[in-house]
Amino acid sequence: MPILSAGTAAIAAAAQALLAGRLVALPTETVYGLGGDATDDRAVAAIFAAKGRPSFNPLIAHVTGADAAAALVRFDDRAAALANAFWPGPLTLVLPRRPDSPVSLLASAGLDSLAVRAPAHPVAQALLRAVGRPVAAPSANRSGRISPTDAAAVAAELGDVVDIILDGGPCAVGVESTVLDLTGPQALLLRPGGVPAEELERLAGPLGRPQDGAIRAPGMLDSHYAPLAAVRLAATQVAADEALLAYGQPLSGAAATLNLSAAGDLAEAAANLFAHLRRLDATGTRTIAVMPIPEHGLGLAINDRLRRAAAPR
Ligand code: TXA
Ligand code: MG
Repeated sequence: MPILSAGTAAIAAAAQALLAGRLVALPTETVYGLGGDATDDRAVAAIFAAKGRPSFNPLIAHVTGADAAAALVRFDDRAAALANAFWPGPLTLVLPRRPDSPVSLLASAGLDSLAVRAPAHPVAQALLRAVGRPVAAPSANRSGRISPTDAAAVAAELGDVVDIILDGGPCAVGVESTVLDLTGPQALLLRPGGVPAEELERLAGPLGRPQDGAIRAPGMLDSHYAPLAAVRLAATQVAADEALLAYGQPLSGAAATLNLSAAGDLAEAAANLFAHLRRLDATGTRTIAVMPIPEHGLGLAINDRLRRAAAPR
């Protein structure tokens, strides 16, 4: 699994691999994705197998933009307005599948809806143009583990199952896309993510939350994003044998400390989140203590990931 710096030749090679039914890791602005041809049942099945993912967890079909999405799903006016405002970017829209959708039924895990997203990363866009097909891509981690935000983290997670890792540098956003369900009259926030909910509400109206018993997105499985260490949230003091994930002015006394953002900037914190969790985990610490993060804007997505990382395994 070569890690290739994502220039023209590497992108062409990755497109060839995808068209041949093989898997490629690609950079997006949120996290790295484990990509396969979304129209190829066997490639989609290989993604589930590689991640060890429960097959009821559907995948996002990545596209260049709204026109390409409209060939896969019923892309109504509300979807078009949201895409116009936030695409390409960290927003995933769940919409009814078109009856003639070429995307593998396995990608939507038997649902009659399909998640679509146009990523902003120039390498992802160039790859999608070269492939000329939708690319199914979950985050490039083993199921339940921390999402990778650089090529080295992908190699550590899934290096053995991909043909090529396209290295597009560290991910600028650092948390996954916001997932919005647009299959009903009220837009539902299935997963907080890179586009803050407050910004979506200006266009989509007040966002509902999925009801109990409704389809739960895997981002909603209780334990997810789990490091090997235990995670202790809302820490206001830290023990000498703990590692500290700080935000703002760090607590003192930890065995190791990484700061999500000394300046208290939520965008910087999101970009650092998964890489810092990985690095603290790699120290072999038993516990990662996490300082409180504000519950607004990107803080919603950060706290969502941290709560799942801390959930009982
Ligand atoms: O930022 C991202 O979204 C990254 C990059 C690679 O694009 N991808 C990503 O994919 O996070 P994944 O598979 O790790 O998470 C996709 C989320 C899951 O929570 C899944 O349940 C939800 O989207 N989802 C996908 N299709 C759905 C559907 N038809 N209905 C409801 N939820 C869906
Ligand atoms: Mg994921």
